[in-house]
Amino acid sequence: MKRFLQLLQENLSEDRLSHSLGVARTAFYLAKKHLPAKKEKAFLAGIAHDIAREWPAERMIAFLKDKGYDITPEDKLNTVVLHAPAGAYFIRDMLRIYDEEIFNAVSRHTLGAVGMTDLDMIIFLADLIEPGRNFAQRQNLLIVSFQDLKRGMLLALENTLEYLTKKNKTVDSRTTLVLNYFREEVAKKDSI
Ligand SMILES: [Fe+2]
Ligand SMILES: [Fe+2]
Repeated sequence: MKRFLQLLQENLSEDRLSHSLGVARTAFYLAKKHLPAKKEKAFLAGIAHDIAREWPAERMIAFLKDKGYDITPEDKLNTVVLHAPAGAYFIRDMLRIYDEEIFNAVSRHTLGAVGMTDLDMIIFLADLIEPGRNFAQRQNLLIVSFQDLKRGMLLALENTLEYLTKKNKTVDSRTTLVLNYFREEVAKKDSI
């Protein structure tokens, strides 16, 4: 445990550490509502999710290559997304937390994924709605996420898409894929 806290402090600035704590707490409460048996796991994944966020791009790339991770051309255009898989491997191999659910949740926390689990969605959403975040849609996203994780994901991804389009930034093809997946998932719920 001491080593774990030390590694968190070594890798995260004070601001990022406070964000991580916010994510951990928010993930805990989201899990209390949606996945009560895994609240502690959600807290742990939340506190560690950004462990590689402040690494330089070269470090993330070298580290992931060493793990045999397939870095795509899109990753190279926007290397910041690599902090998610880099963090997942770091937690597994350096913090020695051998937990596939935590690995996946951390790995998927920036781009999301088709078929995300409840824990994956909890970390993804907690990252956006933790108390330190400040954007117009935060309150609404928080309310929707506590009601329904998939609807929260849909809203979050739609916000992201709108933001990126407004800023004339390229949208990662994976984001579009995941957005379509959640559109279908929510449509299925609505048709019941
Ligand atoms: Fe992150
Ligand atoms: Fe984060």
